[in-house]
Amino acid sequence: QTLELEVSRIKKGDYDHYMKKEINEQPDSVMDTMRGRINFQEHKVRLGGLVKEMERLKTARRMIFIACGTSYHSAVGTQALFEELTELPCTVEIASNFLDRRAPIFPSDVCVFISQSGETKDTLNALNFCKAKGALCVGIVNTVGSSISIATHCGVHVNAGPEIGVASTKAYTSQFITLVMMALVISEDNPKKAARRREIIDALHELPDQVRRVLALDIDIKTMSAQYYPKERNSVIIGRGHQFATCLEGALKIKEITYMATDGVQAGELKHGPMALIEPALGIILVMTDNSLFPEAESAFEQVRARGGQPIILCNEGDKRIPAACTPIGWLESLLPPGTTLGQKQRNDWMGARALRIPKTVDALEGILTVIPLQLMAYHIAVNQGKDPDNPRNLAKSVTV
Ligand code: AGP
Repeated sequence: QTLELEVSRIKKGDYDHYMKKEINEQPDSVMDTMRGRINFQEHKVRLGGLVKEMERLKTARRMIFIACGTSYHSAVGTQALFEELTELPCTVEIASNFLDRRAPIFPSDVCVFISQSGETKDTLNALNFCKAKGALCVGIVNTVGSSISIATHCGVHVNAGPEIGVASTKAYTSQFITLVMMALVISEDNPKKAARRREIIDALHELPDQVRRVLALDIDIKTMSAQYYPKERNSVIIGRGHQFATCLEGALKIKEITYMATDGVQAGELKHGPMALIEPALGIILVMTDNSLFPEAESAFEQVRARGGQPIILCNEGDKRIPAACTPIGWLESLLPPGTTLGQKQRNDWMGARALRIPKTVDALEGILTVIPLQLMAYHIAVNQGKDPDNPRNLAKSVTV
């Protein structure tokens, strides 16, 4: 037992938990995913594992992404980019639901199976189903030699390195990047997409440094998590467009390791039901990054504030529109001892602190940076509330049954 403890301490290095270590490894893991695959000078991407099936990939009639949990969210996060670059119908499926429906699959389809472990039973069963229908089956897998990586016709290893924490973190950002690279490769012959491809490749080059800058928010996020979640409260994470995957994935992280009921909500769906949840006691995180959908996100902010919601805003560094709109002081004052008020400086400090500001990147890659503060927030809430983030109750790392 002493030896086991010692090995575990070495593997965790200076960290208390694998989850924190794996979150902090992301500047390196995202780099490892791109290493040897992207030539940033020439704006070229080469994925050796797809070369032999390139013809079939480029002539597919439809792309279907199939996965579970976090891996499913990486497909949600890149679906829009696949549609934009390949100009094909691209759908995203939860493996169990896809199998329940026994959805129609044709030999002209490309089916992409995403899995950290490469052993998830539902994903593997869906793969066998699609293979039997004659579709080209592609694996996006982190674990070399796993069942899914062996059973697929071709694929790309995610190269995030071993992930031990039950809550998937670095595998997600690397799956996201792998899928982005795949979309770039499939669309390489389309001259109409050249400028967009170039823009994305340049942005990928910046990414490891930007991830480092997001991780530097850790202390702020720790403080904010303790203040905002001193005890369990139901929560929603609201966003739209490229950010919806971050809402789903952030909500999954929070619910799986803190056990707080948390939903990812499409901002456009607020008025179709979730708006009924909004009140001062609800935890709300609103993604308001600087992209073409900012006006819609701003409208969601106003709707939430009008109903007494006190959101944390996830936005871009230097975006001057945020402080003007962000006045959630009443909530902070409600935490103060009776008879105490805030000074102007404290008010200003708090307004700055309530907005989490991350570096700006191209819209299609925002999801890689916006998810990291939510990974950190989930981690700190769990630790503050005395829960073990590496071993959440009722969950296993690999779901093989
Ligand atoms: C994520 O934090 C979860 N542990 C879980 O949703 C996981 O992503 C899912 O079980 C799929 O696993 P896979 O990527 O190994 O196939």
